Amino acid sequence: MRIGVVGGGLMGSGIAEVCARASVDVTVVEADAGAAERSRARIEKSLDRGLRSGKLSGEDREAAGERLAYSASLDDLEGADAAIEAIIENEDAKRELFQRLDAVLPDAEFLASNTSSVPIMKLGAGTSKPERVLGLHFFNPVPVLPLVEVVRSIMTGDEALAKARSFAQDTLGKVCIDSQDRAGFVVNALLIPYLLSAIRMFESGFASKEDIDEGMIKGCAHPMGPLALSDLIGLDTLLAVSESLYDEFRDSSSVAPALLNRMVEAGLLGRKSGRGFYDYSK
Ligand code: 3HC
Repeated sequence: MRIGVVGGGLMGSGIAEVCARASVDVTVVEADAGAAERSRARIEKSLDRGLRSGKLSGEDREAAGERLAYSASLDDLEGADAAIEAIIENEDAKRELFQRLDAVLPDAEFLASNTSSVPIMKLGAGTSKPERVLGLHFFNPVPVLPLVEVVRSIMTGDEALAKARSFAQDTLGKVCIDSQDRAGFVVNALLIPYLLSAIRMFESGFASKEDIDEGMIKGCAHPMGPLALSDLIGLDTLLAVSESLYDEFRDSSSVAPALLNRMVEAGLLGRKSGRGFYDYSK
């Protein structure tokens, strides 16, 4: 099987890595050669981490590396069996990309989006076969977290949905849950209001960031606290998802706190920019 992963950022690289580790040939398409190189470096580093931790044998690590190709041209996806999109959370950019994917991959089994905020229906509606457009929503870090949300729009067909679920479950070994095409799907609809309330708590001086995080780690056995998790997700992504939740449900629990807006405006995006609620530059 050969799959195209469009967008080689944090999520796209993780998805491509997981596919290659599951013996799937993958072509990662990025906007330009520099971005494709950065994706390659990120995936190679993560595969080496798997090798060091003993999760991958030397042979498997080599084989996974060889299954990955990198490109700056969507045309290189020609003939792929399916594609997963993981570009920035921008509705116009995603809609345009799905139209291009539709043309480059007329016979692909499914075209999936890893979006956490754009309605799947809007991505499918611009294509010639909206019945094969659906959501496969992975969680960060993709090589570690087992969940994939399988999202069907009102136009998604049974056949594409079954193929995509089987790909995530049987080929990649992920655990799937189903969600309707509603902002946030299942997990982010619950997670994002929690993260925003932690930011509000910090912003108001109610408690320090360290104590908020320690409270949830030690008091509720979460692997990381909400402010560290916000930094891991990326504050720009958190803001985009909160805006789409608010647009859909008009519930005050998903209104972005002013501090989150200011941090994103300042380029303090969390781990990926080196600084968010915590400093990662050292
Ligand atoms: N890639 C590959 N493997 C990784 C990794 C990465 N980026 N980060 C950690 N790992 C592996 C490590 O190799 C290690 O494996 P080992 O136990 O076999 O050695 C294991 O994960 C644990 O890593 P560490 O010991 O370095 O660190 P922690 O134990 O602190 O775990 C964590 C780090 C996996 C990030 C953990 O804290 C965690 O699961 N946090 C919660 C993450 C979460 O909630 N993600 C969901 C975000 S929401 C989302 O993605 C949706 C989006 O739409 C917003």
